[in-house]
Amino acid sequence: MNLLSSLDITRREIDRIFSLAGRAGEIGVAKALSGKSVALFFEEPSTRTRTSFEVAASKLGGHAVYIDARTAQFSRGEEISDTAKVLSSYCDFIVARVNDHKQLTTMAKSSSVPVINALTHLEHPTQALADCYTMIEKKGNMKDLKVAFIGDIAQNTANSLMVTAAKLGAEISLVGPKACRANPIYVAAARKSGSVRITDSVGDGLAGADIVYTDTFVSMGDEAEAKRRMRLYSPYRLDRKALSYAKNDALVMHPLPAHRGAEITADVIDGKRSIVWEQARNKLAIAEALLRYLSR
Ligand code: CP
Repeated sequence: MNLLSSLDITRREIDRIFSLAGRAGEIGVAKALSGKSVALFFEEPSTRTRTSFEVAASKLGGHAVYIDARTAQFSRGEEISDTAKVLSSYCDFIVARVNDHKQLTTMAKSSSVPVINALTHLEHPTQALADCYTMIEKKGNMKDLKVAFIGDIAQNTANSLMVTAAKLGAEISLVGPKACRANPIYVAAARKSGSVRITDSVGDGLAGADIVYTDTFVSMGDEAEAKRRMRLYSPYRLDRKALSYAKNDALVMHPLPAHRGAEITADVIDGKRSIVWEQARNKLAIAEALLRYLSR
């Protein structure tokens, strides 16, 4: 079994993964990956996802091998299917951050071991699991929780979050400029589970929100368009005024890395409603849980 897409994972599987994430200290966990190796194949930079999976492998008694795809033969034209065949003959898991989602699915077809999506241009499923796990930790459950995503509503984190949060019972509000169209595949998938509202009005979109979530305006690969994107998205910066439309006890989330003064102001991300550090910490709990779940 792989974790390639938030579209594929079922509510039951999410519940099982969250259950494992809550049992990190139980007997036998330290040996759950004994003798096993995890290949981390990363084409893009990472601080949290890479480190959480490396530490998770170690805590479970296994071993992680980091492969910087930019210095591997992949960067000189080796086909990703060949890379996957070889890595899966050495290792028991492949955790891959590749820009093109199709490359990830090709990798999975050629791999004889589970492949975990560590972010593609379309999705960030492990992030969405850590995000929802954090929401449940803070709010008890996600039934009817109003989750508002503000900013670039067409990017990978938004795609995975809307689908995963909707499966867990949340109502989704996507708040961004008219020129930014949320991906219709993910919107349709989320609507199968619950409501998804899309608006360009910050006041309407954030009204009554329990969770206000934002992410960078310039995702990896969008750097050439940075100036245009900053102009387009700056009215959707998460600042104190925007947050005032949400509930008084609304919590602020951001997957990090954050750019203070760009998509979020320093007083908001460093303020008392922010739970970004718990959110980041929970990436480790989810990495451990996923490796245990997929090693069954
Ligand atoms: N949130 C996240 O994916 O962080 P990294 O890019 O540091 O892994």
